Amino acid sequence: MQLTFCCTHTAAEPWLAGLRAALPEAEVSLWAPGAPLADHAIVWAPPQAFIDEQTRLQTLFNIGAGVDGLLKLRLPPGLQVVRLDDAGMAVQMAEYVCHAVIRHFREFEQYDAAQREARWAFRKPRRREDFSVGLLGLGVLGSRAAQALRAFEFPVLGWSRGPKALDGVRCHHGPDGLHDFLAGTQVLVNLLPLTLETENLLNRDTLGRLRPGAHVINVARGAHLVDDDLLALLDRGHLAGATLDVSRTEPLPPEHPFWHHPRVTVTPHTAARTLRDESIAQIAGKLRALQRGEPIAGVVDPQRGY
Ligand code: NAP
Ligand code: GLV
Repeated sequence: MQLTFCCTHTAAEPWLAGLRAALPEAEVSLWAPGAPLADHAIVWAPPQAFIDEQTRLQTLFNIGAGVDGLLKLRLPPGLQVVRLDDAGMAVQMAEYVCHAVIRHFREFEQYDAAQREARWAFRKPRRREDFSVGLLGLGVLGSRAAQALRAFEFPVLGWSRGPKALDGVRCHHGPDGLHDFLAGTQVLVNLLPLTLETENLLNRDTLGRLRPGAHVINVARGAHLVDDDLLALLDRGHLAGATLDVSRTEPLPPEHPFWHHPRVTVTPHTAARTLRDESIAQIAGKLRALQRGEPIAGVVDPQRGY
């Protein structure tokens, strides 16, 4: 079995060493233009030239959960795309989301400001039952975040494409379920894949339907959010704050108003990082399952876009 590795913005050597150790039966190499043809590839943001040259590939293993970048390439029909399924990301995402929700709920920004002024100032406790958290997307990451938020007893709502039943979560689905979901949400957490259906979904109309004083946490993709609509709703006071891990252009350009907005927190696309050892173990397990002719999880449906 020939494996090729083509991941931009990733140090290749530790991955190659890990893949060789996990799959001693495979020949693992780093792709360069003109490299011999491989059977399967481990990829992140590969160039179109890689796809065009590697005509024998059966599977692309994406070393991330989101495949929006990969699906923008011209992929031959029949080339299977496999995403990372958790591989240590879900707990990181749950941590990030809980941290952001609790920071807003317990008003830590206000305590930080009070400390800067050496001011010992209590704030009135808020009612947890008023602080409902709505998760857009109840997949691998959204359902784990829902479970973690439930442990803190926040009311949790969710929205998915098809119907879902999750313990303790008020589940909505499809376009018909969106308005009720938004109307019941105090903190909106976006964990949708970026597809033709979900691009620009966080806009003036949808964000305007959140409860007054709502917060927005975008941990999915920058292109889900219409930046100017968010800024207008923050400045008008309808939204109380936003935590943005992702942006339309990454890195977020220095002149972008999000950097200095007093009610926007920016982090550098770090909510749930790819963990090398866990990812290699998962890919090796899936490759062996494929060799045995068994089905694997995480196969992307190119029609749906995730
Ligand atoms: P997933 O398992 O594929 O789950 C996607 C969820 O979104 C599913 O519940 C799906 O509904 C729902 N959905 C998709 N299209 C929809 C639509 N048109 N209307 C309503 N619901 C829709 O994905 P995941 O692993 O949870 O990851 C989600 C995204 O997180 C990734 O695509 C990636 O962009 C982002 N991400 C960000 C970071 C970071 O560090 N910031 C890290 C990893 C991933 P069904 O359940 O009905 O299919
Ligand atoms: C990161 O954003 C991922 O999609 O894994």
